Amino acid sequence: MEKADRYAAAAKEIAAVLKGERNLTARMATVSNILHHAFEHFFWTGFYVVDPDKPDELIIGPYQGTLGCLRVPFSKGVCGAAATSGETQIVDDVQAFPGHIACDARSASEIVVPVRDAAGRLIAVFDVDSDRKAMFTVTDKNGLEAILSAAFSD
Ligand code: SME
Repeated sequence: MEKADRYAAAAKEIAAVLKGERNLTARMATVSNILHHAFEHFFWTGFYVVDPDKPDELIIGPYQGTLGCLRVPFSKGVCGAAATSGETQIVDDVQAFPGHIACDARSASEIVVPVRDAAGRLIAVFDVDSDRKAMFTVTDKNGLEAILSAAFSD
């Protein structure tokens, strides 16, 4: 299946499973599970949420894959860049990204999408890592942004 078709199928599955469920942890766990298993090149797939006690720091949320770092300050890494800019970040080679945080040395490329609530407030970022370089394109950006917007900004 083409990437865009896989995103469309995952979006349908996520919408069906989440129908009527408002709990944020349940929604994040479901999104990370379904997306992680939809693509072979997703090595780490999950959420860093804005810490209510430290609003300039992200804390680990629901995820799939190898052990993630617990905290990422807004000032660091690809996740921090997505949180501060409010824009999706695509990094073809994480080694070349200044301030990249290596939670697992096998991560090679990465996409991070800001996640907003219905009021437009940043609540989290969604991070996908691949163990191969340059695995993420505008197709991933469009697919992930659509799924995250449907799951958290409706
Ligand atoms: N690499 C990320 C940190 C999170 S993990 O890779 C799971 C970053 O630089 O923000």
